[in-house]
Parts: sequence; C-alpha cells; structure tokens
Amino acid sequence: MKLLITAGPTREPLDPVRFLSNRSSGRMGYALAEAAAARGHEVTLVSGPVALPPPKDVQVIRVVTAADMLAAVKLHLKKCDALIMAAAVADWRPARMAPRKLKKGRQQTLTLELKRTPDILKSISWLKGQRIFIGFAAETHNLCAEARRKLRAKKLDLIVANDVSRPGAGFEVETNQVVLLAPDGVAEALPLMSKRAVAERLLDWLAVRVRRRS
Ligand code: PMT
Repeated sequence: MKLLITAGPTREPLDPVRFLSNRSSGRMGYALAEAAAARGHEVTLVSGPVALPPPKDVQVIRVVTAADMLAAVKLHLKKCDALIMAAAVADWRPARMAPRKLKKGRQQTLTLELKRTPDILKSISWLKGQRIFIGFAAETHNLCAEARRKLRAKKLDLIVANDVSRPGAGFEVETNQVVLLAPDGVAEALPLMSKRAVAERLLDWLAVRVRRRS
C-alpha cells in the first residue's frame, strides 16, 4: 500500500527569528512511518521541523508552515491509498510576518493579530475518493466527544483520540495512550504503550479495513 503520513509541528513565522509552534517532537508520526516501511508499504512522510533522523526506506518531504504542509499533502496524496495525519498543525499564524527582527523598544506589552491557518484535512476532503483518511485528536478534556466531533467534521475513517494531559502520553514522550474511534461508534481503548506499538495497532486496523473492502 502507498501511505502518506504527516508528523511534527508546523512553525508559523512572526519575524525572521521567531515563530508560533507547539511541542510536537514528531515521534508519533515517525514511529508510524518506520513501522509502515518495515511492513513493506511505500511511505511518504511530510514532516514539520523535528530533530529526528529520517526513517529507513521512507521518502521524507520537509515543510515548515501549515500552508507548506497543505501544499505537500495535496501534491503527494494523488499517488497514495491512505493518509495518516499525526502532525500537530498550528491552528493560528501571525497575521503578518515582519521582514526584520521585531525590536522591543520601550514597550511592556505586545499585541499580536493571529489568523487561522488552513485546516489541511478539511481542505483535502474533496480529494478523498476511495482513500482512507485517519486523523489524530490531541485533547486535554472531553476526549471522546471532541474526537468524535473532529471525526465527523473532517470526514475521517478513523480518529486516534489522544489525551495529551495524561502522564506518558501525547507530546514529546516515547509512549502514548490512545482510543481508536470509528464513525460506526466502534471504539478501542489502548493501554499506555510505546509509540511504535501504537503505530503497529493503527496499521493493523488499516490492514483489516483494506482487506474488508477488497
Ligand atoms: O509529535 P509527538 O511529540 O510524538 O506527539 C504526538 C502528537 C501528540 C502530536 C500526536 O499524537 C497527535 O495527537 N497529533 C495530532 C495533533 C493535533 O493537531 O490534533 P488536533 O486535534 O488539533 O487536530 C485534529 C486533526 O486535524 C489532526 O489529525 C491534525 O493533523 C489535523 N489538522 C489540524 C489542524 C489543521 N490546521 N489542519 C489539520 O489537518
């Protein structure tokens, strides 16, 4: 199967030396790419800025902003059978990027105007066709309700609900604890496990889904 996977954060520039971003390390998306390549899938990984080495046998496309990630996903989606969006795309960007480093001067406060970044999954839902789309939902409260809302709004085949407030789960750490939620109401709560093990479970779900369809 040909898989398109996204990983890491995006960075939204404020000036040439500053940006808005989040704590995503890329570990979850890279674990997925590694596990998928080890199973023999053809993997394209669209990665935000992270400090991880490129996974073996994976084509890595490096991007910085949400707009870059959207363009890369659109470009590579055509040749893929499934998309897994593990990236933590920044939802907001500074309305303007200053061409030169912003100076502090004497001011004690700074008000930033922010604009929404494109919602990648929503922007490409019309390109879905027979492809399988899997999203993640990073939540700190109302985990399953919020994840189900995103599952519907983003027209996904599966959402990986990720309570990022739990110790050992979510951003930066080597482990994760997630609930897999499907549109038919089926839910599978996984225990705390390595991100590689979460990736394997997700790929197992995908394999069953593809087998059922063919
Ligand atoms: O990278 P790590 O340190 O290993 O951390 C892993 C993780 C916590 C980043 C990962 O497990 C995770 O939860 N990724 C999704 C984070 C996120 O942005 O969730 P969200 O609930 O804001 O977004 C929902 C879905 O829409 C996600 O699939 C996201 O990729 C996608 N999205 C979000 C915003 C946007 N503008 N466009 C999108 O397509």
